[in-house]
Amino acid sequence: MLITIQSLAELPAAAEAIIAHASNNRIFLFYGDMGAGKTTLIKSLCSALGTSDTVTSPTFAIVNEYQMVNDKIYHFDFYRLKNQTEALDMGYEEYFYAGAWCFIEWPEKIPDLLPLNYTRVSIAALADGSRQIDVENI
Ligand SMILES: Nc1ncnc2c1ncn2[C@@H]1O[C@H](COP(=O)(O)OP(=O)(O)O)[C@@H](O)[C@H]1O
Ligand SMILES: [Mg+2]
Repeated sequence: MLITIQSLAELPAAAEAIIAHASNNRIFLFYGDMGAGKTTLIKSLCSALGTSDTVTSPTFAIVNEYQMVNDKIYHFDFYRLKNQTEALDMGYEEYFYAGAWCFIEWPEKIPDLLPLNYTRVSIAALADGSRQIDVENI
């Protein structure tokens, strides 16, 4: 599924469409350059899922946890990971396979630790500032 977004105002509708497209998948991997809009889209997805927690970039913490009424969201940013052992050491499996929602920025840093099934979201910023979002269930 390909979505083009002209402005931030179109993000809530895109978030709803992405969640619907993912069907039963709860693990989402986000690809795209720095500044493409990964964290911004994740904020919108978290709002769509109904958390009232503040969504921030987990660049330094590696993982943020947001509460929902009967559920949880784990938001990862692996940008600062030096190697995959660091992901093992932080107990990434406990998060990935807890049945919670997982939104993962910079999955390129953990190529050998990716789950079998996930929704791949690729974001590209175009020259006019719009965003192209490609969503694919793997
Ligand atoms: N769909 C969008 N339309 C317009 N601007 C956006 C969009 N998504 C993100 N931005 C802007 O781009 C900048 C970087 O976004 P961010 O989500 O932090 O990127 P990333 O997490 O991919 O590094 C922010 O200033 C944000 O407001
Ligand atoms: Mg980010």
